[in-house]
Amino acid sequence: MAKLTQTHELKGTLVCVEGIDGSGKSTQLNLLRDWLKSCGQDVLYTEWNSSPLISQTTKLAKKKNLLSPRTFSLLHAVDFADRLKQVIAPALKAGFIVLADRYAYTAFARDVARGVDPSWVRNVYDFAIKPDLSIYFDIDPKVAMERICFNRAPKFYEAGMDLKLSNDPYESYVIFQSRVIKEYKKMVKEYGLVKLDATDSIHSKQVKIREMLKTVLKAKGIEV
Ligand SMILES: Nc1ncnc2c1ncn2[C@@H]1O[C@H](COP(=O)(O)OP(=O)(O)OP(=O)(O)O)[C@@H](O)[C@H]1O
Ligand SMILES: [Mg+2]
Repeated sequence: MAKLTQTHELKGTLVCVEGIDGSGKSTQLNLLRDWLKSCGQDVLYTEWNSSPLISQTTKLAKKKNLLSPRTFSLLHAVDFADRLKQVIAPALKAGFIVLADRYAYTAFARDVARGVDPSWVRNVYDFAIKPDLSIYFDIDPKVAMERICFNRAPKFYEAGMDLKLSNDPYESYVIFQSRVIKEYKKMVKEYGLVKLDATDSIHSKQVKIREMLKTVLKAKGIEV
């Protein structure tokens, strides 16, 4: 059975946040980290595509628009596998609360939106550990675009310009990110992602997330 559907038995706790760019993931996770640290918890924050082994290669390939969606998917998977082995799993074994700013679900949403086969990409990430809590910030792509593009145009890949959906980056962004959102919504049922309305205030979302995490931690005998 795939690991992503199996509860892990490590001492620590894994939380991930998902959603399109600008949905407020990092804002919430930073607040969560500060709160958990102030409660005396050991916390590790890890970001998508940040493994030193591979992120430079991905950056270079992106610059030159060299690779097919499937090859990109594999590069991101290598990055993820490296971080899982070197950083995430050891921290979970040591009892840390690991906060993942994007997780395997990002690949399932983005790569499938780029035309990659859903079963293929799920197989690639078969080794991933199932998070104890996975949150999905649901947002209208136009609202997200207003948040992140108030002083700049959407970036090439952010807008899915590699797919040639439109010559206008703003229009392309909305078409592409709508596809990504469609995939995320499927995962609410498939993987039990908890959907939160990203347009709620920062404070009210943070309160909800803390409550959910407190319940998860309590089940492991940890009071915060
Ligand atoms: N609830 C909210 N209401 C209004 N604005 C918000 C809210 N949450 C975050 N923002 C603002 O939206 C912008 C994007 O937020 P943030 O960087 O947390 O998103 P993100 O999901 O991490 O994006 P990315 O995937 O690009 O890293 C920031 O300027 C942030 O201050
Ligand atoms: Mg972010």
